[in-house]
Amino acid sequence: MSSPNELSPKSPQESAVETRHVVLPNDANHYGTAFGGAIMSWIDLIAVMAAQRHSGREAVTVSIDRINFITPIQIGDHVNLKAMVNYVGTTSMEVGVQVNRENPYTGEMVRATTAYLSFVALDENKKPAPVPPLKLETDLEKRRFAEGKMRIEMAKEFAAKIKASRKIS
Ligand SMILES: CC(C)(COP(=O)(O)OP(=O)(O)OC[C@H]1O[C@@H](n2cnc3c(N)ncnc32)[C@H](O)[C@@H]1OP(=O)(O)O)[C@@H](O)C(=O)NCCC(=O)NCCS
Repeated sequence: MSSPNELSPKSPQESAVETRHVVLPNDANHYGTAFGGAIMSWIDLIAVMAAQRHSGREAVTVSIDRINFITPIQIGDHVNLKAMVNYVGTTSMEVGVQVNRENPYTGEMVRATTAYLSFVALDENKKPAPVPPLKLETDLEKRRFAEGKMRIEMAKEFAAKIKASRKIS
């Protein structure tokens, strides 16, 4: 198994993915706006593409860490999704996804949803495999990396606290 140091660093731009959907009645809830589950499925799909492109391997979703529904999306709206690898560990990658609602007639874009997901790259035996380090070039990429690292560390701390509290009770 190659160690991450042997892998050439890749910039977040190299694996970034952008895609679009139109909200059809099948994607909507009974309020006539996009169903959260439909948006989550689009988010998972685009995020795994970014993780596969970064790692050059099969990647599986290990955790959907946070999803914020900010603005509802109407039937007929265009939905623009952008995914980028924010942070990498040894075998894991955190991908950030931005979802924007676009009025197809005026082009007006509004942030609708944001999400952070963690993926693990797998080798041929379906075991975790090292991923390339991130080549951070811009201040924005450096900020996203630092925030991703904080989220991962906080999640580990939280999991440890929960485990400890269950031992007490
Ligand atoms: C992903 C999977 C292979 C990891 O196996 P594992 O035995 O937990 O692996 P490890 O303990 O060695 O952890 C591997 C990495 O995952 C990270 N990880 C494990 N659980 C995590 C979680 N809940 N959230 C975030 N990262 C997690 C670890 O921190 C580690 O990262 P690092 O190598 O960058 O330090 C295994 O959990 C799995 O197969 N899960 C099911 C995936 C799936 O079916 N997804 C849905 C369909 S795509």
